[in-house]
Amino acid sequence: MADYLDRIGAGFIIAHPEFLDYDHVPEELVGREDIQSELASKFSALASPQGAARAVITGPVGSGKTVLAKTFCRDLQRHLSGKRELKVAHINCRNASTSMRVAQRILHQFDPGHPDRGLSMGELLLSLRKMLRRTSTHLIIVLDEVDHMLRRSGDELLYQLLRIDEDQEGTGSVSIILISQEQVLDVLETAVLSKFGQSNHLRIPSYDVNGLEAIIRQRAKAALVAGTWTDGILRLLAEKAAPGGDARRGIEFLASAAERCEFRQDEHSIKEISIDDINALNDTLAVDTITKLEIVDDLSGQEMLALLAMCRRLKTEESMTMGDVEKLYTVVCEEYEQRPKSHTTLWKYIKAIEVQGVIESRVATVPGGRGRTTHMSMPHFLPADLASRLELLLPKRLRR
Ligand SMILES: Nc1ncnc2c1ncn2[C@@H]1O[C@H](COP(=O)(O)OP(=O)(O)O)[C@@H](O)[C@H]1O
Ligand SMILES: [Mg+2]
Repeated sequence: MADYLDRIGAGFIIAHPEFLDYDHVPEELVGREDIQSELASKFSALASPQGAARAVITGPVGSGKTVLAKTFCRDLQRHLSGKRELKVAHINCRNASTSMRVAQRILHQFDPGHPDRGLSMGELLLSLRKMLRRTSTHLIIVLDEVDHMLRRSGDELLYQLLRIDEDQEGTGSVSIILISQEQVLDVLETAVLSKFGQSNHLRIPSYDVNGLEAIIRQRAKAALVAGTWTDGILRLLAEKAAPGGDARRGIEFLASAAERCEFRQDEHSIKEISIDDINALNDTLAVDTITKLEIVDDLSGQEMLALLAMCRRLKTEESMTMGDVEKLYTVVCEEYEQRPKSHTTLWKYIKAIEVQGVIESRVATVPGGRGRTTHMSMPHFLPADLASRLELLLPKRLRR
């Protein structure tokens, strides 16, 4: 009866689905060594018994702010274990946007059984202060997406937390990390940033295609059955996610392609993510593919021939070399009874098409061979759809 559920958990492709979850905190960050060191340098005071630190991390969506803070706090706890008792309260202020809710959550992460009903802000902070003193623990408070709280309740809680040690002998019981997107920095600016110190501000950039590829590879290795993916497939996924530079999208694309591949498995299928599994993503992405296809309408007839040649190969391959383009272009020219242009002219056509964003190119080593060559790919369009449009337009365009 419920045969259609058989594939769930079959594990042909996906061995460990939990590693495809965005909330999974990897054992290691990839490609962020410089930023990790910079953050660590701000926390060097923590090694001494009275030391505390502050940092503000800003960057675009999916640039790894949350995972940077999580892995950092986890690693620091391990590093200082036996030397200093560290606790971490990571609060997402999107879900707890008033300073009251944030204060309650901080207490709860510290002491899950702590009653907070009916307590005023002053009483909550007093409890926190007492607990810290009693247990001689250092607490790292991470206020993630802190702009939500600042907009709703202002920055009063921040100042209270910074002053938590003021009326006691002990010092350095709380460190604070603020996290926010770059665009909403204005709410943070002025008072807050100057209180935290401009030099404690870490701006992290979005990922480029290589950064995304490394993250996608890490997830593929952890989550998927060995041999179900190739380097070319990972590269294409990274290219697809590259315009936003958002690592979450990259992971989402990998997960969707792997799920599609898992669900189409039968006795005859090759257990490997295919170009179709990736192209199928275009349907689910919120892009208006029909109007986007019109991007090719203004190409010249010759450029269309070159693009059609590429589409035909890129239906089934994740990338192709210039040599491949030339061969297929000659075939297409024959089909449309046109004289193929020279290598240099064809190269110009390809560059013109690339400028439109229809294809992407990069220089890399020849598969399995020596030397380097240009590889063309089509991360943002369905080659089959573009090919149909070109076949429709070409006869008319060539008659002109
Ligand atoms: N350098 C990295 N190494 C490994 N995984 C990363 C890295 N950067 C981001 N990720 C992963 O990408 C996703 C998005 O990162 P996240 O920290 O949530 O971004 P942000 O908080 O900036 O929006 C998460 O699943 C995270 O684990
Ligand atoms: Mg985040």
